[in-house]
Amino acid sequence: MVKKDIGALRENRYQARPARPRLAFRIREGTMKPSLEKFRAHHARLRNHLDRFLEGLTQLDSWSSEAREAWATWARRLLTKDLLSHAASEEEHLYAVLDDLAGARGVRFTETMRWDHRILKEYIEEFVKNSQSLKDAEQLRGARLAGWQLYGLLNAHFVKEEAVFLPILEQRLTEGEIATLIGRMHQHEAAAQGK
Ligand SMILES: [Fe+2]
Ligand SMILES: [Fe+2]
Repeated sequence: MVKKDIGALRENRYQARPARPRLAFRIREGTMKPSLEKFRAHHARLRNHLDRFLEGLTQLDSWSSEAREAWATWARRLLTKDLLSHAASEEEHLYAVLDDLAGARGVRFTETMRWDHRILKEYIEEFVKNSQSLKDAEQLRGARLAGWQLYGLLNAHFVKEEAVFLPILEQRLTEGEIATLIGRMHQHEAAAQGK
């Protein structure tokens, strides 16, 4: 890892470099209403960060302890702030709208996806706990294990949101309704991140 990358990690402006082999399954079918495109772009930004997270998980062994520490600090912020606030805003706004649209007689349509969020939170807590000192072999092992698991689940979770949930909104809501929904989510996430 080069010096300018470490500086960028510290300042939380680390971007994934393009043209890297990716494990992530990605879905992209046609253009949606403008506000849903904004949602997709937000997901794409998070996915790019997750590719960087994955890069760290796989390459940590060859990095200096300073680089490992910078990566771990950046990763903890990404997971605990950006990702968890995204999940919370979805449950409060996006999933709530989908549950209403599905009208499944008191059974929440989005329940399995809400469970994904709970499981992800546990993996994140495990990663945070184990990434405090990556010089320690046991900690490194624990952080890696939690990181791999959360990356795999999160990738599948994003695909399901994009492949199943967004087309429902595209079909059933107007651009104005979607814009209001996405605006509320954005406000929710910004407030949770103290912006
Ligand atoms: Fe989600
Ligand atoms: Fe999401």
